[in-house]
Amino acid sequence: MADEPLVLGIETSCDETGVGIVQGQTLLVDTVASSVDEHARFGGVVPEVASRAHLEAMVPTIERACHDAGVGLRDLDAIAVTSGPGLAGSLLVGVAAAKALAVALDKPIYGVNHLASHVAVDIVEHGPLPEPTMALLVSGGHSSLLLVPDVTHDVRSLGSTMDDAAGEAFDKVARVLGLPFPGGPHIDRAARDGDRVAIDFPRGLTTGRDLERHRFDFSFSGLKTAVARWVELRRRAGESVPVADVAASFQEAVVDVLTKKALLACREHDVDHLLIGGGVAANSRLRALAEERAARAGVALRVPRPALCTDNGAMVAALGAEMVAKGREPSELGLPTDSSMPVELVQS
Ligand code: KG4
Ligand code: ZN
Repeated sequence: MADEPLVLGIETSCDETGVGIVQGQTLLVDTVASSVDEHARFGGVVPEVASRAHLEAMVPTIERACHDAGVGLRDLDAIAVTSGPGLAGSLLVGVAAAKALAVALDKPIYGVNHLASHVAVDIVEHGPLPEPTMALLVSGGHSSLLLVPDVTHDVRSLGSTMDDAAGEAFDKVARVLGLPFPGGPHIDRAARDGDRVAIDFPRGLTTGRDLERHRFDFSFSGLKTAVARWVELRRRAGESVPVADVAASFQEAVVDVLTKKALLACREHDVDHLLIGGGVAANSRLRALAEERAARAGVALRVPRPALCTDNGAMVAALGAEMVAKGREPSELGLPTDSSMPVELVQS
């Protein structure tokens, strides 16, 4: 292992300042400083608050990661950094830090796509990625279905959300139900005592016509509105709101669509490995239903542990190390950030 490339990865696309160090395919350390508590009272991530928090956390997080891994900065072979997509100001802090390290240490820098690194992180958890792999990425910022022939240079978007991301829908519905931000884990917990068929909430983009035009796209905004309206009608009628039943029925509508479309994509593209990543991959019902449906379809399921599903530096280091191993060209030192970078940019 000692002669395998040692790569430090920096992730600042949203509200987590993540620094990870990977050697080859082995994760040495994954250090994350989150500013989520500072955003809670606003009910969502405030970009300027996130940028400032990254600025304050960056140097201490790099120092802590190196200390915990027993690695000196001069031992590193390369620096990897998320260059997009994400919040513009947040990305800028991470990329500036990575460039400073690359210049000072005279090491190559690899700018990586955030969505591709959500996929690559599973290499440090479950070993080399089967090629191709199908990836369902579901978080507060994105919901995407990706066909991944090679995570270092060929990642193809089959579909994504047309409106709210899956996690965003969880967060907004939690707010309607009076649960704290971020709402996903609270809905997950409340749903355990609820009946998932109590209320028949809509499944977005699943009718015949929608499937023709938006086969692998998602839409959760109609579902969110349907839940809000259902709750509002109950309240106006002076009736109590069965929080557990609403949570369970809403959650079922989300995970039903996610798992159905992901497995349809596997079947139609003849892929027998499905990876699920992003913060919503921590959802217990999503994991259970995906396991059940994947097993029935003969598809092998890979879900990284929850700490590697949410944004972190290990995912960036993992993709950087894979790029070094596959001999991919490093980025220019003038590496730009691109807040709306499409995943297809991964293609060479
Ligand atoms: O990947 P992540 O940490 O950050 C983004 O890139 O957005 O994902 C955060 C999202 C939030 O919307 C949160 O509510 C959701 O993931 N989430 C969950 C669960 N845990 C986190 N959603 C559903 N069930 C969970 N158990
Ligand atoms: Zn993410």
